[in-house]
Amino acid sequence: MTALLELSGLTKRFGGLTAVDGVSFKIAEGEVVGLLGPNGSGKTTVLNMVSGLLPASQGKISLRGEPLTGLPANRIALKGVARTFQLVRILPSLSVVENVVAALAFGRRRLWGEAARQEAMKRLEQVGLAGRADETAEQLTYIDQKRMELARALAAEPELLLLDEWLAGLNPTELRIGIDLVGSLAERGVTVLLVEHVMDAVRALCGRCVVMNAGRTIADGATSDVLADREVVRAYLGADHA
Ligand SMILES: Nc1ncnc2c1ncn2[C@@H]1O[C@H](COP(=O)(O)OP(=O)(O)OP(=O)(O)O)[C@@H](O)[C@H]1O
Ligand SMILES: [Mg+2]
Repeated sequence: MTALLELSGLTKRFGGLTAVDGVSFKIAEGEVVGLLGPNGSGKTTVLNMVSGLLPASQGKISLRGEPLTGLPANRIALKGVARTFQLVRILPSLSVVENVVAALAFGRRRLWGEAARQEAMKRLEQVGLAGRADETAEQLTYIDQKRMELARALAAEPELLLLDEWLAGLNPTELRIGIDLVGSLAERGVTVLLVEHVMDAVRALCGRCVVMNAGRTIADGATSDVLADREVVRAYLGADHA
C-alpha cells in the first residue's frame, strides 16, 4: 500500500546547523502520528518542509507517491496538505469569518461569496467559534485564534493535517475539548501529523509516535512503547516521567 505521506532522508541545513538530519518515516492514510522531541529538535522544520514553507536541503517528501519536494506552499496546499502554525498566523483586521473565507478563496475548493460564507460558518461551528464570526480576528483570545486557524485549515478539506503545538497553552477544560476535536477529525478520516508537548493529548490521540532529537529520529513506534523507550526518556521526557 502506498503511504499517504513518506519522508525519506529529509534534511535541512541552516548554514552550519543541520536542523533536520536524514529523517525518514511514513504515515498511512487515517493515522494520527505524534512528532515529539525536545525544543529545537527539528519538529517545526519538518512541518515547514512538508508544507513547502521551507525547501529541503536534501531528501524526498511524497504524498500518495507523488513528489512534493520543491513545490511551493500553495501547490502543496492544493494537493491536500493543511497546517496550523506554532505562532498563529491570522489576518488581524478582518473578521473571524472573513479569515476563513479568505482561505477558501485561495484554497483548493475556490468558493466565493455566499457559498464561501456558509462553508466558513460550518467550519467555525466545527471548532466552536460560530458565535464570534463577526468579531475582528485580533480581538480573539489566543485560544480562539488557534481555533480560527484550525477552521481555516479544515475549510480546505485536507487529506493531511499538520498541527504544530495546536493544544499548547490550553487550560484543562479547553484541552479536553481540543483533544475531542482533533479526535473527531481523525474519526472522519483526516490523517494528522501532530507536533505536541502535551503528553495527555499525545496518549489520547496518537497511535504511533516519531521522536526526534537534534534533528534525527530516535524512536518510531506504538505510542506506549515509544514513551517507555530509554533513549526517549533520557533525551526528552526526563527521569520524572519514568
Ligand atoms: N529559519 C531558520 N533559520 C535558522 N535556524 C532555524 C530556522 N528555523 C529553525 N532553526 C533552528 O533549527 C533548529 C530546529 O528548530 P525547530 O523550530 O524545527 O525545532 P522544534 O523541534 O520545533 O522546537 P520547539 O519544540 O521549541 O518548537 C533550532 O536550532 C532552530 O534554532
Ligand atoms: Mg516547533
